Amino acid sequence: MSQPHEERFMQKIDAEEKIEPKDWMPAAYRKNLIRQISQHAHSEVIGMQPEGNWITRAPSLRRKAVLLAKVQDEGGHGLYLYSATETLGITRDELIEALQSGTAKYASIFNYPTQTWADVAAIGWLVDGAAICNQVSLQRTSYGPYSRAMIRICKEESFHQRQGYEAMLAMARGSAEQKQMAQDALNRFYWPALMMFGPHDAESAHSAQSMTWKIKRETNDDLRQKFIDQTVPQIEFLGLDHPDPEIQWNEERRHYDHGEIDWEEFYNVIKGNGHANRQRLSHHIHAHEEGQWVRDAVNAYNKKHKAARNKAA
Ligand code: 3HC
Repeated sequence: MSQPHEERFMQKIDAEEKIEPKDWMPAAYRKNLIRQISQHAHSEVIGMQPEGNWITRAPSLRRKAVLLAKVQDEGGHGLYLYSATETLGITRDELIEALQSGTAKYASIFNYPTQTWADVAAIGWLVDGAAICNQVSLQRTSYGPYSRAMIRICKEESFHQRQGYEAMLAMARGSAEQKQMAQDALNRFYWPALMMFGPHDAESAHSAQSMTWKIKRETNDDLRQKFIDQTVPQIEFLGLDHPDPEIQWNEERRHYDHGEIDWEEFYNVIKGNGHANRQRLSHHIHAHEEGQWVRDAVNAYNKKHKAARNKAA
């Protein structure tokens, strides 16, 4: 008698075998993956906006070139992740519709405005730094296409984080005004960067199941703690003040104790009441509509050549 699907599926998960698109998987596993991977993709694409706003205003040709490369990378990350999501049986149009209608989420941090050049530096350092903590862990996720996308994306993220930190260092070692701009950017982006890891494990709707299915390999709080611990010496090296007055090394825990995130702000921004939520979505809708002619041309080309291939076969 053939083994029940669920049993075989969990055996593969427990044996650290990757689940591939053609494998049997529980409907809830598929649904959870479509949710997480598509929102990851949306985050990458929407994340292009706050940094993209500064490409024409970068302080030097070198900074402009580096920022241009980073923003282009983020677009590519989004495409890898949309392609990984499509292997689960959903179309790109459905994914874009979910984003533009507001039913799908993206990382809340991208609803904060980039007011100064130091904000662009802080995003590279803190946002990509937090993303690396999360994505290095996700390289071991159980779904094959997601894991392979993460391995490729992580290679580029380290450049993103290094260029941000280097720009931050230039500001922190610059004039008094530049150092103040760096401190101001740190103060405004530090806590939203901690929110990137999601709610506390006890409040996380998906974590327990995602850990059982090895979609997630470490919990929200564990990854957040890793990020907090690594950021303390980076702030010290910059010569800036830590935004968390309660940050304190705990010898017993071998981690930093820290203050509480403003969860009311977290959920408020997720609900659409952040500084830039409406602007981010209307920009995406406008750009998508402007690109309709490209999609029409590609579809017409494919249709013509598919007909020619069928005729030749
Ligand atoms: N912003 C917006 N929504 C968030 C969020 C955040 N920072 N953190 C959690 N949420 C949402 C979740 O999506 C979920 O809502 P949903 O049920 O409608 O999807 C709800 O809050 C409860 O959170 P859970 O912890 O239960 O959800 P998850 O188990 O999915 O954990 C997560 C949240 C840790 C963000 C997880 O989804 C994850 O690891 N996602 C992949 C990583 C990711 O998306 N990172 C953003 C990358 S952006 C980036 O890298 C760009 C950079 O390079 C500039």
